[in-house]
Amino acid sequence: MTGTQTLSKYWMLTNEFTQNPYPVLDHVRREGPVRELSFPDGGRAWVVTRYEEAKAALADPRLSRDIHVHYRLMSRRTGRALTPPPEEANHLANLEPPRHTPLRRAISFAFTPRRAEALRPKVERIADDLLDRLGEAPEAELIAGYADPLPVITIAELMGVPADAWPDFLRWSTALRTHSPTDGSGVLDRNVQELSAYMADLIARKEREPGEDLLSALIHAAPENRLTPTEILSTGFALMTGGNDTTASLVGGVIAALLTHPRERARLLADTGRWGKSMDELIRYVSPISNALQRVTTEPVDVGGVTIPAGEVVVVCVMSTNRDTGQFPGHPDRLDLDRVKPAHLSFGFGIHYCSGAHLAKVITEVSARRLFERFPAARLAVDPSRLRYQQNVVVRPLEALPVLLRP
Ligand code: HEM
Repeated sequence: MTGTQTLSKYWMLTNEFTQNPYPVLDHVRREGPVRELSFPDGGRAWVVTRYEEAKAALADPRLSRDIHVHYRLMSRRTGRALTPPPEEANHLANLEPPRHTPLRRAISFAFTPRRAEALRPKVERIADDLLDRLGEAPEAELIAGYADPLPVITIAELMGVPADAWPDFLRWSTALRTHSPTDGSGVLDRNVQELSAYMADLIARKEREPGEDLLSALIHAAPENRLTPTEILSTGFALMTGGNDTTASLVGGVIAALLTHPRERARLLADTGRWGKSMDELIRYVSPISNALQRVTTEPVDVGGVTIPAGEVVVVCVMSTNRDTGQFPGHPDRLDLDRVKPAHLSFGFGIHYCSGAHLAKVITEVSARRLFERFPAARLAVDPSRLRYQQNVVVRPLEALPVLLRP
């Protein structure tokens, strides 16, 4: 992208952008803090690309994440009466205060740094089991074989789902991430129904026989923190949809970054104390979220001097804010493990800040570390230029990550 080229009105939706968004985002960010994006169906969105404006937008209650507000807008645009399924309509990620507040409070106990640390041995065991299977062949594909299943199994374990249901959880999770609400094939509905039926049954079992897991804790919470059965079911959905594909995309991206930055990888392996301190820089650099941070304006809002009318979609582009030189001076396009506490926005900002951030960091650190400790000579099986990213409105995962595990 050069300064003189003009952007297509669908600039963010092209495959070229998905494969390498950074030159386009650099250009757009220099032009202004907010840029319009058109959709082929005639709709449009306002994309916020600069760091300060993004933080202000994420903290502004006039920019709503309420799923009902979003569905009303989609219904108006498509001329079809669309309503969210109850599993999606009743969880914290899709609601605003006052309903958001008690839902967030109810799960906050499960996601403290201490609890995330306590899960580390389980995550290590899950990673080691997956590596045992991968390690039998000289070459492995690390997205389907490692990055995708690891968070699904960890979150299933966190919720108290027994191991025999993990393969189904993987299938449902893939379906949830690959189908959009306007896709008329029925695949999404079928998978939502199957997952719902399974979860309702699991909740009933844990009502009778509680375990040491998150679902049991939610079901048997003190009366002031108790959620309704629909809210508990919906919270399970929030953890799966919020945690699986995001973490898979992050794990794949971090492993790819370390495969292509051997010096940084050697530093981490030489000093294990560095892993924790380096996580935020790796997460800033990888930026695994594409357009997940969406809001709808409930009244006209000024963002960086641009007035966005009421009833419009606003996308906060974290891939862009994480490379904003205003916030990350020097060389934001470079992975620099010496960068001190980079305040990236990969986990969002404000009341919807990612509940699973600590756990996601533990999963990512464990997965990269266990892989490289076991296979220190692992290297890409293809030239880095051949790695491809999936076109996905929520996350930016690699399609595949083929590696040679041994020298
Ligand atoms: C253990 C894995 C994870 C779990 C269980 C999880 C769970 C959640 C939940 C429940 C929310 C909603 C919070 C609320 O609305 O109050 C959320 C928000 C969010 N999560 Fe995560 N998450 C995980 C991993 C990740 C990862 C790896 C990323 C990206 C690096 C990420 C990025 C975000 C962002 C950006 C938001 C805010 C969205 C917005 O403001 O629109 N999450 N997460």
